[in-house]
Amino acid sequence: MDQLVSMGEGNTPLVESTRFPGLHFKLETTNPSGSYKDRFIAAELSRLLLEGRRVCVATSSGNTGSSLAAYCARYRMRCAILVNSDAPAGKLMQMQAHGAKVIRIPQFVTSPEVTERVFALLEQFAASGRAGLVVSAFRYCPGGMQGVKAIAREIVEQLEGVRHVFVPVGGGGLFAAVSDEMQAIQPETLVHAVQPAGCPTLWNAWRDGVDTITPVESTTRVSGLSVPFDIDAGLALRTLRQGGGQAFAVSDEAVFAAQRDLLRMEGVYSEPAGAAALAGYYQAREKGIVRDRESAVCLVTGHGFKDPVSVEAAARETAGYTADAGNLMAVLDEVTR
Ligand SMILES: Cc1ncc(COP(=O)(O)O)c(C=O)c1O
Repeated sequence: MDQLVSMGEGNTPLVESTRFPGLHFKLETTNPSGSYKDRFIAAELSRLLLEGRRVCVATSSGNTGSSLAAYCARYRMRCAILVNSDAPAGKLMQMQAHGAKVIRIPQFVTSPEVTERVFALLEQFAASGRAGLVVSAFRYCPGGMQGVKAIAREIVEQLEGVRHVFVPVGGGGLFAAVSDEMQAIQPETLVHAVQPAGCPTLWNAWRDGVDTITPVESTTRVSGLSVPFDIDAGLALRTLRQGGGQAFAVSDEAVFAAQRDLLRMEGVYSEPAGAAALAGYYQAREKGIVRDRESAVCLVTGHGFKDPVSVEAAARETAGYTADAGNLMAVLDEVTR
């Protein structure tokens, strides 16, 4: 069905790994603003425009805001975006370059008290009718989250009989969308949740076999996956149990190592959150949950351009050169040897 709002999001490529036969990467980085959030924003803004709204307020760890800012610019809507004070530079720049009003709030997301209070105020503001509230989670925007479900349908079309899908988890909405849709269309495919060990809301509950999500003190440095309380984690947990997938907790170091592997061995320019699924895949292989050559998909959810600091370390490992006409031949000789 054609949406009111669209900029060509979705239908992203699925490329095979150069190292692990059977493993594929779903390149959500190729969406218009560089992350899967475009699927959510296109669906949510379509809904808001149908309601006659032209102003929205949003919370974002970065990618929802970047996407919202881009689509609002195109559809002449206005938006104010509340972000944590250390959202990555690339994402903040995207928001402001598109003309969004960005409001930085210290301790937003990291402190449960600050976060709860801010959400309550935002809901109060949105309830006054001044603006639509945009948060990429089923709890706040179930209509928009329907747009994310297309990821599962595309994977089924692109890779026949796919056995495993690995999904990074922050708030849990992305996982809930993909897993729920997969269970509806191809239940034999297992959708696994990968969460940073430094923010293990879903993971703790899954490991302990309990139904409630307990807030945690987040220590992860993986932007986008630091959501230390229950937004959609409870929903994601129920969906995970129904679908029969597994949960994996991965260290920040494992995520950064996976990001480096994507850069250096797969040619994929991903932000850290976009590499978390691969860190989960490595763990699943070690544990024998995924066998050699078994078909699997890792979602690469966000572009490396969004978080330049995170790719700096990998970039520094490769020397740069300066040359002039006098020594160019010698330099070329050296670098091509
Ligand atoms: C790149 C990226 N991957 C994954 C996620 C996780 O999505 P969710 O919070 O719905 O679990 C986010 C959320 O901001 C993200 O920006």
